[in-house]
Parts: sequence; C-alpha cells; structure tokens
Amino acid sequence: MHFAVVLAFCLSLISRSLQASLPSFTDVLSSQTNLSSFSDVLNKTYPDLLTRIETSTSPITILAPSNAAFAKTIYYSIIGPAFSNNDVGAIKAILDYHVVEGNHPSTSLLPTFQYFPTWLTNTTFTNVTDGQRVGGVMQSGKEMFWVSGQSNRSPGIVMDIAFQGGTVHIIDSLLIPPSSFPATAELFSTAAEPYQLTSFLGATYLSSNGTVSPIAALLNETSDITIFAPNNVAMESVASSLTSLSLSNGSSSFSDLLNYHIILKGGPLYSTSFPTNSTTLELETLNGTPITISFSSNSFFVNSARILTSDLLLANGVMHVLDNVLSPGSTGEKPNPSLATQVPVLSTGAPGGFNVSQAPFTSSLPNAVITGVTASPTGGSYGGGGTATTTGAASTGTGVPKKNGGVRTAALNVAWLIIALVIIYFIV
Ligand SMILES: *[C@@H]1O[C@H](CO)[C@@H](O)[C@H](O)[C@H]1NC(C)=O
Ligand SMILES: *[C@@H]1O[C@H](CO)[C@@H](O)[C@H](O)[C@H]1NC(C)=O
Ligand SMILES: *[C@@H]1O[C@H](CO)[C@@H](O)[C@H](O)[C@H]1NC(C)=O
Ligand SMILES: *[C@@H]1O[C@H](CO)[C@@H](O)[C@H](O)[C@H]1NC(C)=O
Ligand SMILES: *[C@@H]1O[C@H](CO)[C@@H](O)[C@H](O)[C@H]1NC(C)=O
Ligand SMILES: *[C@@H]1O[C@H](CO)[C@@H](O)[C@H](O)[C@H]1NC(C)=O
Ligand SMILES: *[C@@H]1O[C@H](CO)[C@@H](O)[C@H](O)[C@H]1NC(C)=O
Ligand SMILES: *[C@@H]1O[C@H](CO)[C@@H](O)[C@H](O)[C@H]1NC(C)=O
Ligand SMILES: *[C@@H]1O[C@H](CO)[C@@H](O)[C@H](O)[C@H]1NC(C)=O
Repeated sequence: MHFAVVLAFCLSLISRSLQASLPSFTDVLSSQTNLSSFSDVLNKTYPDLLTRIETSTSPITILAPSNAAFAKTIYYSIIGPAFSNNDVGAIKAILDYHVVEGNHPSTSLLPTFQYFPTWLTNTTFTNVTDGQRVGGVMQSGKEMFWVSGQSNRSPGIVMDIAFQGGTVHIIDSLLIPPSSFPATAELFSTAAEPYQLTSFLGATYLSSNGTVSPIAALLNETSDITIFAPNNVAMESVASSLTSLSLSNGSSSFSDLLNYHIILKGGPLYSTSFPTNSTTLELETLNGTPITISFSSNSFFVNSARILTSDLLLANGVMHVLDNVLSPGSTGEKPNPSLATQVPVLSTGAPGGFNVSQAPFTSSLPNAVITGVTASPTGGSYGGGGTATTTGAASTGTGVPKKNGGVRTAALNVAWLIIALVIIYFIV
C-alpha cells in the first residue's frame, strides 16, 4: 500500500522532472548556433508566434530552418519574393507552415510519406480543413525529408531536439506553402514535354463562349479538393476523342469528362488514404460516377490509369498525376500492372495518331507562355520528375542527419530520481 503511493508519487515526480528538464523552445533557439536567423525573425517580427509556440498545450513539432536555409530564400519561388519584399503577412504564413501539429520524433516517421496538418490556416494562402499539410518521411531509416509545395524537399540536418512542447528538427531549406492548381500544374513545364500537365490545365479553361470555364474557377476556389490530372502524353494519345466531345453542358460532354477527374467530398485525399493491399476504394467524383482506386506492383491505380506522381500539395487540396485520361463511360477498366503505360480507355483515333508535339487545349491557357521557376542552387527538387508513388524520389543528397537533444541531462535526472525513490522507500 505504502509502496504503491510512494511509487505513484515518484512516477509523477519523474514525469514532471523530465518535462522540466527539457529546454524551452527559446532555450533551443539560443543554444543552436544554426538557428540564429530563425530566432531573430521570430523575436523581432513575430513575437506572437513565438509565444504561441512556447505556450502551446498540444504537442507540436517545429521544422526550424537553419541559417543556411534563410540565406538561400532568394532562389525559391513564393518565399523568395516574400522575403525580398519583406511581406510581413506572407512571411507569417511561411513561418506558420513550419509548425506541425503533434509530436513527430524521427522514430515516428515511416519509409513512406505521411501528411501532417500545420499551423498554416490563413485562407489568403491556404484552403484546407485542419491546416495545410506537410509530408514527412524517413528514407533508408536515417534520411529525414519534409515535402512541401512544388514538391520541394527540405532535408532534416539535425533531428530530435526535444523541448517542452515537443520536438525540433533543423531543416536545411524552408518549406514552400503550396500554390494553386494552375501554378502547381505549370511547374511541370520543367518536365520533359510528354510529362507536362499543360494539356489538362488548358482543358480546364476551355469554354464554349470565350468566358473562363466554371471548372477553372471551381478548381481554384474550392477547399479540400482532390484532382487526378492526366499528363500530356495521356491527353495527346486520345486527343481526337477529347476534341470531339461537346463543349456544351450535359452528360457525355467535355465538362462531364473533366469532372470525372475531380473529387470534392471527404478530401483532400492523400495517398495515405488509398489501399495498399488487394482491397479497392470507390470515390465519388464531381461527375457523380465513382472511380476505383487500387494498388498493385507498388503503384496506385485509378480505374486502369496508373498514378505516376502522387501527393502534389495544392493551396486548396492535393493533386495526383495519371498516365491516362479517365472516362465516365469506362468505369470498369482494370489495370494491367505489368504494362509500363496503361492502355487508353478512349479511342486513340487513327493508328499512330499519337504526336508528341500536338498537346490539345494548350492554346486555352490564359497565359500561353508558361513561366518556369528559379531552380534552387542544389537543384533537382522541383516539379514533375516523377516521384514514385510509394517510395518517394531520390534524396537531394545531403549527409546523414545528426541525432541531438537533451537526452543526457534527462537520463541523469532519471538516475537521481530512482536513487531518491529507493531512499524514500526505505525511509517509509
Ligand atoms: C528578443 O528580443 C528582446 C528585446 O526585444 C531581447 O531582450 C531578448 O534577449 C531577445 N531574445 C532572443 C532569444 O533573441
Ligand atoms: C550548421 O549548418 C551547416 C550547414 O548549413 C552545417 O555544415 C554545420 O555542421 C551546422 N552546425 C551545427 C553546429 O549543427
Ligand atoms: C492572412 O493573411 C493576410 C495577408 O497577409 C493578412 O492580411 C491577414 O491578417 C491574415 N489573417 C490572419 C487571420 O492572420
Ligand atoms: C458562358 O458559359 C458558361 C458555362 O459554360 C456560363 O456559366 C456563362 O454564363 C456563359 N457566359 C455567357 C456570357 O454566355
Ligand atoms: C485563381 O485564384 C487567384 C487568386 O485568388 C486569382 O488571381 C486567379 O485569377 C484565379 N484564377 C481563376 C481561373 O479563377
Ligand atoms: C475556400 O473554400 C470555400 C469552400 O469551398 C470557398 O467558399 C471559399 O471561397 C474558398 N476561399 C478562397 C479564398 O478561395
Ligand atoms: C452545367 O450546369 C450545371 C447546372 O445545371 C452548372 O452547375 C455547371 O456549372 C455547368 N457546367 C458547365 C461546364 O457549364
Ligand atoms: C487491407 O488494408 C486495410 C487497411 O489497412 C485493412 O483494413 C484490410 O483488412 C486489408 N484487407 C486485406 C484483404 O488484407
Ligand atoms: C506532329 O505535329 C506537328 C505539329 O502539328 C507536325 O508538324 C508534324 O508533322 C506531326 N508529325 C506527325 C508524324 O504527324
């Protein structure tokens, strides 16, 4: 009886002492020399955010950009202009994006991406319920990456600095808040032509009377959207079938086909909600007809189309790139995973009709000249290189991140408390 009471008391002491033995977030900022820029910007311009982090009652993970990360902001779209124009609101949104809900030490990350909500909720920048997501992964059991907008990958260079509110990981480039569907699709202009998304993007602007199609506005302004976007080679191979569809409203029309690529309910649907075994998942599209998601040979399929690149984060949801155009008239098609490219479900027209230089609908783009992005100095992290569905693309080549944190102090405290517990037990 006595022992139980003493044990409970001591356990509560241990847990409190462990908590108290951990540094505060401000302690971490001042003890890590590579965080002086982050510390400065929070302290000088965003003291409210600093206070919110310090007083958070729910566990959080801070992806703390290193000094080197702040030094190279100029090379990145969105964050470059925000910092060079000293746009206080945009920088606030960028910093909010670096606070992840929940405690995510390296040991909790998986070899496949998980998508965690962040504190980026300002609807000027994002329109995703529960906060914009950031993807986290541990590759080869030791390389930590965080993926943000524009497929930008930020490596973790110092992992697992425990603090009172959760965990800090130091990352070597800033996270980029995801952009709109058009801006994200245009980034694929840096991919080889057949893999660009300009044809599907152009198709969303197509209208019968010269005004902006309601679909373009819908993709831009609806929260929690999931878009399955066929790439140019997919659009081109069935170009004649697509251009022969009626532009007027109604079933079997062009808008009917586009809507079959859009999910509004229950999203955004990241690949983490797709099956990874022999079960299938039916999702209701905007067109009303369901699509079927399945998994085979390490790839996700939508009906018979393979997902080539999954989980491109959008300001208002997520996009997955397909190797084929879906058709609401062919819902029962099954994939053949042994084929590198799935057989189109729409007619490809005359034999040899595929012509790589004839992407349909690109002339419907409001700005026919697609703007590229400034490449990062380390290169290679943007756009449509084709992130494998489940394994993630190759790392951008940084060393193995370091383990860190107040583990030693905490262990010492536990040792002292155990000694105290033994002494108290004998006294009682
Ligand atoms: C934050 O700024 C205040 C003055 O505004 C200063 O007293 C304090 O030391 C600074 N803290 C850090 C961590 O830089
Ligand atoms: C600071 O960051 C640089 C790279 O940005 C790295 O080479 C260096 O080892 C880091 N220093 C510490 C103390 O982590
Ligand atoms: C959202 O961002 C805009 C633009 O920077 C800013 O004016 C507004 O105050 C922000 N809203 C909130 C709730 O922070
Ligand atoms: C153009 O067509 C769209 C539907 O495609 C319709 O919503 C819009 O009102 C039309 N505009 C004009 C000026 O007719
Ligand atoms: C998409 O939204 C942005 C920002 O609100 C706006 O500038 C742009 O014109 C919109 N595009 C369409 C097609 O609605
Ligand atoms: C965010 O999404 C909601 C619901 O779809 C929509 O009503 C609203 O206009 C969107 N906000 C912005 C800024 O696009
Ligand atoms: C088709 O008509 C429906 C209402 O009947 C309307 O909500 C939708 O925006 C229209 N779509 C197009 C592409 O005109
Ligand atoms: C497939 O995976 C789901 C989710 O993990 C699980 O609930 C289900 O039982 C699995 N089904 C089979 C047939 O293994
Ligand atoms: C492909 O399209 C281009 C541009 O329209 C045209 O010049 C070329 O002759 C076509 N090639 C074939 C093999 O049809």
